[in-house]
Amino acid sequence: MVEKGFIKLTDYREYPVDVMKKRSSEFYGEMKRRRTVRHFSDQPIPRSIIEDCLCTASTAPSGANQQPWSFVVVSDITFKRQIREAAEKTERKFYTGKATQNWVEDLKHLGTDFNKPFLETAPYLIVIFSQLYSFLPDGDKKKHYYVLESVGIATGMLITAIHHAGLVALTYTPNKMRFLNNILSRPSNEKPFMILVVGYPSEDAIVPAISKKLLGDIVTFI
Ligand SMILES: Cc1cc2nc3c(=O)[nH]c(=O)nc-3n(C[C@H](O)[C@H](O)[C@H](O)COP(=O)(O)O)c2cc1C
Repeated sequence: MVEKGFIKLTDYREYPVDVMKKRSSEFYGEMKRRRTVRHFSDQPIPRSIIEDCLCTASTAPSGANQQPWSFVVVSDITFKRQIREAAEKTERKFYTGKATQNWVEDLKHLGTDFNKPFLETAPYLIVIFSQLYSFLPDGDKKKHYYVLESVGIATGMLITAIHHAGLVALTYTPNKMRFLNNILSRPSNEKPFMILVVGYPSEDAIVPAISKKLLGDIVTFI
């Protein structure tokens, strides 16, 4: 007899240890091929693939299961152009004065500047908003818990799903993002979290030669 409000855990699958070992190492092999790409082709992608990836993101854990996220999928060139114009305006200010010397120095190896052509070239911009709070039926504000953590996890799962599908993504965070509320008509309780630029890499795409920290440098087993 299961307590009211609960169901039996039936979806869990246990694997023998050798199978687990294979699955975990194969998944690592798959994930370590993921790279942030900044050069996109304009090759279209069926919308159903993006929908599946968003379904994956929607399964993410969240504080009190509030799922404090909204995803706006932009493929319309008029909106993409508006986003590019607004982003380049704020990025120009950032790169030509607002950014600290250290920040510019830290970004140098990425080869980025205020030009963001991928915002028009890539077939999809998934604009992710975090819902800082929601509204109760009487109009009062309802507090949301661990919003940044929750939206960060859902975004990570979305990036993973996009990579798994065989596409590439750029986690793009313009220095100021509130312009996204105006362009996409989002309410003020929603704060732009990032733009995930999604598509195929261009044929001549290059990526910075970077490395990841070793396990021994980031993990402590106690
Ligand atoms: C929160 C966050 C914000 C980022 N913002 C930008 C950005 O605005 N522009 C950009 O070109 N890359 C951005 N990146 C991508 C990082 O530069 C990239 O993940 C990092 O250099 C490691 O490269 P990799 O993703 O290929 O492993 C961002 C990544 C994260 C996680």
